[in-house]
Amino acid sequence: MEPFLSEKDGYVVAVVGATGAVGQTMLEILAERDFPISELVVVASSRSAGSTVEFKGKDYVVQDLETFDPTGSDIALFSAGGDTSREHAPRFAEAGCYVVDNSSAWRMDESVALVVPEVNPHALEMARENRIIANPNCSTIQLVVALKPLHDAVAIERVVVSTYQAVSGAGGKAIEELAEQTRNLLSGKEAEANILPARIAFNVIPHIDVFLEDGYTREEHKMIEETRKIMDADIAVTATTVRVPVFYGHSEAVNITFSGPMDAGRARELLADAEGVCVVDDPKGEDYPMPSMAAGSDPVWVGRIRNDHSSFNSLHLWVVADNVRKGAALNAVQIAEILIRQP
Ligand code: A2P
Repeated sequence: MEPFLSEKDGYVVAVVGATGAVGQTMLEILAERDFPISELVVVASSRSAGSTVEFKGKDYVVQDLETFDPTGSDIALFSAGGDTSREHAPRFAEAGCYVVDNSSAWRMDESVALVVPEVNPHALEMARENRIIANPNCSTIQLVVALKPLHDAVAIERVVVSTYQAVSGAGGKAIEELAEQTRNLLSGKEAEANILPARIAFNVIPHIDVFLEDGYTREEHKMIEETRKIMDADIAVTATTVRVPVFYGHSEAVNITFSGPMDAGRARELLADAEGVCVVDDPKGEDYPMPSMAAGSDPVWVGRIRNDHSSFNSLHLWVVADNVRKGAALNAVQIAEILIRQP
């Protein structure tokens, strides 16, 4: 791959949405991975402009996105919502800056690359002209990382996925809402739902994003359409997406039908060798992935790998990842790392 950005000791990096749950994790991961930064700009709305956020022990003053001039920025990591991105990402791209956008605004745009580095890094070629790259939905990212090594071995025909999604996927305010509702209910008080569509403490909500005409939610459509765009339009995908009272870490029960022979033993071997995947699958030792172990970690964890006795060439998997890291911030930083890679 030809380099996207010329070789430099450090790049001018803007984090847009730097005060949010994903933006904060983007900063943490940029620091952890020692991304070469000559100048960091932290950007959010006028509400938090003038406040400070920390990066590598230093305070940075938050800039107002409305008045921020992106000229001279090399890379902008956006996680400030779809409307914000639709309005401002083109302005950054026109100024010559590569935008890696975590919202759903550009994902299904035919001219925009939708990228998971372990799965379809070549799709980044599309970004040379328009300079906008979409980061997929958090639930899609962990799903395709687990499906890819299997699909490369034997073509997948159909995927049925049910999700168990953490509240952090709905942002910082949803994290506070789960904590507050839990505290209130345990002390005999009322629990108010303002951010999520129903009470989430001690509950499960089969409703993420809005309902569409066909009875699916938009989150379910995102998983279906994004998986096909990233991997293969010939794969049939269906999804049920559910919010559970977990702070960090999405889980997925995945049923896969292959076009030819595949069994649990072979799938376990393929997944054990796959980039970005960690297999934890020891039924005898009662060992399997859970959000409590995935939270704060980078891999996509896969376990409960077993043959589906009800159908030929079919398997079940249980897939868990930190939705804010691999599902959002880490994937965006990995894309940025490809943008600065030199031959
Ligand atoms: P702010 O703190 O100024 O509201 P989360 O996903 O955790 O809710 O965070 C959303 C992030 O997106 C925050 O950093 C928030 O900044 C930012 N944001 C939301 N709306 C806008 C906007 N219109 N312009 C710039 N940043 C925005």
